[in-house]
Amino acid sequence: QKRKTILDLQRMKAEGEKITVLTAYDYPFARLMDQAGIDMILVGDSVGCVVAGYDNTLPVTMDEMVYHTRAVARGVEQAFIVADLPFLSYQIDVVEARRNAGRLMQEGGAQAVKLEGGCNVADTIRAIVDMDIPVVGHIGLTPQSIHRMGGYRVQGKQDQQAQQLLADARAVEEAGAFAMVMEGIPAALAAEITAVVGIPTIGIGAGVECDGQVLVIHDILGLCDKYSPKFVKRYADLAGTIRGGVEDYIREVRNGEFPGPEHSFK
Ligand code: KIV
Ligand code: NA
Repeated sequence: QKRKTILDLQRMKAEGEKITVLTAYDYPFARLMDQAGIDMILVGDSVGCVVAGYDNTLPVTMDEMVYHTRAVARGVEQAFIVADLPFLSYQIDVVEARRNAGRLMQEGGAQAVKLEGGCNVADTIRAIVDMDIPVVGHIGLTPQSIHRMGGYRVQGKQDQQAQQLLADARAVEEAGAFAMVMEGIPAALAAEITAVVGIPTIGIGAGVECDGQVLVIHDILGLCDKYSPKFVKRYADLAGTIRGGVEDYIREVRNGEFPGPEHSFK
């Protein structure tokens, strides 16, 4: 099966075909969702929260993103792979941003990178696009800005904020991004932005009118039972499945049922 490219994703927007995106951080998950036919896989810095157990994404480093991206790339044949630039990897100056974007491609094996921000990162997006690395923007609720926002809060509810988000969306497109994530914004505003920009919009907590949808795999499979935002839908209960399997193993080892003769060598 042929690998999806930015051309496929642009065509999907033009033809009104929804773009499906999920996060993955390792080989087995990436392989399974690739086999299931996902269009795009995002190696998100959300890895810090759902894999490393951090409270937010700020502690995630470039080396960690490279490691997870490489693991994902090993498991994927057809999906388009996007890797997140983590906090502090693109904010200092465009030289560092270009170096780090390049690392996610060269060492990680990604086909594109994603970074957070709108008007404030337009020059950075342009600098990365100029070295022929496709960029995905990310506007609205940007988790690396948690301390400025004062928590994970829906953005663009007031008119002035909404105008700023429209300007951010235009700036991201103008800077040369080929797609953008819109997170945590009112559905009507997301619909308006999707209609005015020419590049695909991928929503998370942004309503049904976006060109595509993205969610964190651990959230939709019920692996994280700590906290779940309103926009998450649960499609499986892996927490229950895993706990059940582990409990069965513990019981069988304790009562001598495992290993049986079929698991033992003569
Ligand atoms: O890190 C991440 O998982 C993301 C998506 C939720 C958009 O940036
Ligand atoms: Na992210």
